[in-house]
Amino acid sequence: MIIAIDGPAGAGKSTIAKMVAKCLDFLYIDTGAMYRALTVKVLAQGLKINDRHGIIDLAQTSTINLVNTPEEIMRVLLDGRDVSIEIRQPQVTKYVSDIARIKEVREVMVELQRQLGKKGNVVLDGRDIGTVVFPDAKKKFYLDADFKERVNRRLKELQLIGTPVTFEDVAADLKNRDTIDSTREVAPLKKADDAISIDTTSMSIEAVVEKVLLHIQDGTLL
Ligand code: DC
Repeated sequence: MIIAIDGPAGAGKSTIAKMVAKCLDFLYIDTGAMYRALTVKVLAQGLKINDRHGIIDLAQTSTINLVNTPEEIMRVLLDGRDVSIEIRQPQVTKYVSDIARIKEVREVMVELQRQLGKKGNVVLDGRDIGTVVFPDAKKKFYLDADFKERVNRRLKELQLIGTPVTFEDVAADLKNRDTIDSTREVAPLKKADDAISIDTTSMSIEAVVEKVLLHIQDGTLL
């Protein structure tokens, strides 16, 4: 059973997807983390962001694994090394959308995501899960929120892990990523026609989780 949760950065996808997966005892897959892991490697190897061939080669020869731990923390392994912390660094966030727009990179990641989806009951969050990766997903959700609210949420998350950023820094980054993610040629961020839209701007996390679970229960899932 596949549940797809898409939407822009800061809409609450990963928090909600994680909690929904926990409530249903499903596997949680953060697909953005995969693009981030590749970005870590691109930066570590000193590749230029416009070195398309070099980046594609790295994507095709790297091993990226997502591991759900018993402590409910998702670990991201890049060639066997834990990069769960590194993938959240501002440099990675700055360049990840440029890497995720490359068609051949997406082909590698989508294949990986489909393999993981075969494991059975899975909640995936991303940008193209309901449109491209799993167009036949049993339930699809599209989460969004006002821009200012999304910036504030990201700002809080970053401050919590001790990253010194301002509202303006985060706003500029989100604006840039929104533009790249939604205007790229391959699999742009877009609501699937059959996805349920939820505007999370003034909703608590619990209220969104409840709404998602209710929609799932309305179906044939539980
Ligand atoms: O969800 P996130 O912010 O961690 O995602 C990081 C970037 O990865 C995002 O800016 C766009 C890209 N991405 C994507 O293109 N497709 C996905 N399914 C998930 C993320």
